Amino acid sequence: MYRTKTNGELRLANAGEQVTLAGWVQRVRKMGALTFVDLRDRYGITQIVFNEEKDAALNEKASRLGREYVIQVVGTVSERESKNKNIPTGEIEIIATELNIISSSEVPPFTIEDKSDGGDDLRMQYRYLDLRRPTVRRNLELRHKLAFETRRYLDAQDFLEIETPFLIKSTPEGARDFVVPSRMNPGQFYALPQSPQQFKQLLMVAGMDRYFQIVKCFRDEDLRADRQPEFTQIDCEMSFVDQEDVIQMFEGLMKHLFSTLKGKDFAEAFPRMKWVDAMNGYGSDKPDLRFGMKFTALKSQALEKELDDPADTVNVIPDGQFGVFDSAAWVGGICANGCASYTRKQIDQLTDFVKRSQVGAKGLIWIRKNEDGSIKSSVDKFYSPETVAAWCDRFGAGNGDLMLILCGDKRKTQKQLSALRLEVADQLGLRNPSVFAPLWVIDFPLFEWDEETQRYYATHHPFTMPNPDDIPLLDSKPGSVRAWAYDCVINGVELGGGSVRIHDSQLQERMFELLGFTPEKAMAQFGCLINAFKYGAPPHAGLAFGLDRVVSMFAELDSIRDCIAFPKNNQGRDMMMDSPSPIDPAQLDELQLKLDLKETL
Ligand code: AMO
Repeated sequence: MYRTKTNGELRLANAGEQVTLAGWVQRVRKMGALTFVDLRDRYGITQIVFNEEKDAALNEKASRLGREYVIQVVGTVSERESKNKNIPTGEIEIIATELNIISSSEVPPFTIEDKSDGGDDLRMQYRYLDLRRPTVRRNLELRHKLAFETRRYLDAQDFLEIETPFLIKSTPEGARDFVVPSRMNPGQFYALPQSPQQFKQLLMVAGMDRYFQIVKCFRDEDLRADRQPEFTQIDCEMSFVDQEDVIQMFEGLMKHLFSTLKGKDFAEAFPRMKWVDAMNGYGSDKPDLRFGMKFTALKSQALEKELDDPADTVNVIPDGQFGVFDSAAWVGGICANGCASYTRKQIDQLTDFVKRSQVGAKGLIWIRKNEDGSIKSSVDKFYSPETVAAWCDRFGAGNGDLMLILCGDKRKTQKQLSALRLEVADQLGLRNPSVFAPLWVIDFPLFEWDEETQRYYATHHPFTMPNPDDIPLLDSKPGSVRAWAYDCVINGVELGGGSVRIHDSQLQERMFELLGFTPEKAMAQFGCLINAFKYGAPPHAGLAFGLDRVVSMFAELDSIRDCIAFPKNNQGRDMMMDSPSPIDPAQLDELQLKLDLKETL
């Protein structure tokens, strides 16, 4: 037996016991005749003491231990003289009588402590060492528990976990596929699933009733802090349900996870917000509701071609006084409480922020309502004091508030203002990661118009059910059709999303037509599902949560990478295994593939 106890479990009550411990050497300190070794494993750290006066040879051996050596120690648990309140084992130490060196270690390339001196790339290259750091390890523990509690909840609700294949047919919708050449079928390729969408719908046709799977998905898309090329979904589907049933079921899952893993109980139902209200009020389909700063429009017109709220029409800007506002379709802003005292420099920095290429605004207009009630703005020379004061009232501004205004094309400007809203909230410390503001965004548009290709795309995917009230608009005003689709958003992060599916083959065929698929193309890509629907398809609906995003939110991390054991970097590379990498010419030959690489700079 290598050990009788772990390094995290011994307490004062164990004093006097003889134990055998094993683990990694975190640190060696010499103090006079004593040598202290911090011994670490997954469970914690225990202090081991070697005494030169009791056993000089043993002490000598201990003093030569290096960081990250793997050792085994036999000794007696003893009360410490100077206790360490920072660790659970801090009241005891082990007086060692035996020491076995199991493996030596080279000097690690960075310190294996929570505050490591290793840069990102180095830590990713030696991820197996990085994973020894307690913070990273804790994230993986949380990930395990979250997956476990998810299974527990869904099992209790009669869901079956069913595996679906990874080698599937390429369906180029949404992101790009990763493809895999088939040796046995030369010139043909599998795709790795972007999600098991079609399979889970087929499982409903097959009568499985309630399916889930904690499953890897693969998307060849540009990477960001919340995106990895391979990531994990909690993928679910249910039969004989409507939107309300699905929302109830998975709000229940989220509440279960918050309650069991964060000790946080949400008594109330999660709020719901229509997509148009999210866009007009926050400029985003995933508004962060931990703080206010809802938009106030000074000029707006309900959009004709796209989904919008007909009531979102206003104009309180006198015409002909300031060309920039006159020519803008939308003028609106946010009111930052208590920020009237922002210096010129601070406002210039915000202006630079909105002008950055990632945001793309042309400029920023500001109005200060000072503590004494006086008003000053960057458009004072264009508008009367009464007009600007009326705007302040519209913003609901009090003394000491600062209003920040953008103008331009409606949806584009709202998105820019959304970025500014988040930036100001960050500066004001309003985005506390320990506060959770959940939300269901509902009533998404069924289609999105793409100017470049001059066609409609499915906002969610082509199997999403239109809201039956809007079916008459499918031909006349497709942009205004609402979908029975919903997203679960927490703190401005889309954690999950799904929809009610079309189960009627005629409606499905019509959808394909509207999306510009010829019947042949639709059949070639989705033929299996179209045919399956001919054999008795139950009404069904589902959703998928991004497991990595849920875990990183629960762990209060900035990036999902930190809760993935072996993540890819922003170039999609695995720094540790050094992949992707060229393959052997013999492998290419076997696959009957020839490379025709374009030169890259
Ligand atoms: P969707 O594409 O919205 O829906 O994905 C569901 C959830 O998966 C997570 N996610 C990602 N996480 C990390 N890296 C990525 N690259 C990434 N892409 C998506 C998000 C997202 O909310 N089949 C549908 C679901 C359904 O309709 O049932 C689907 O995949 O958290």
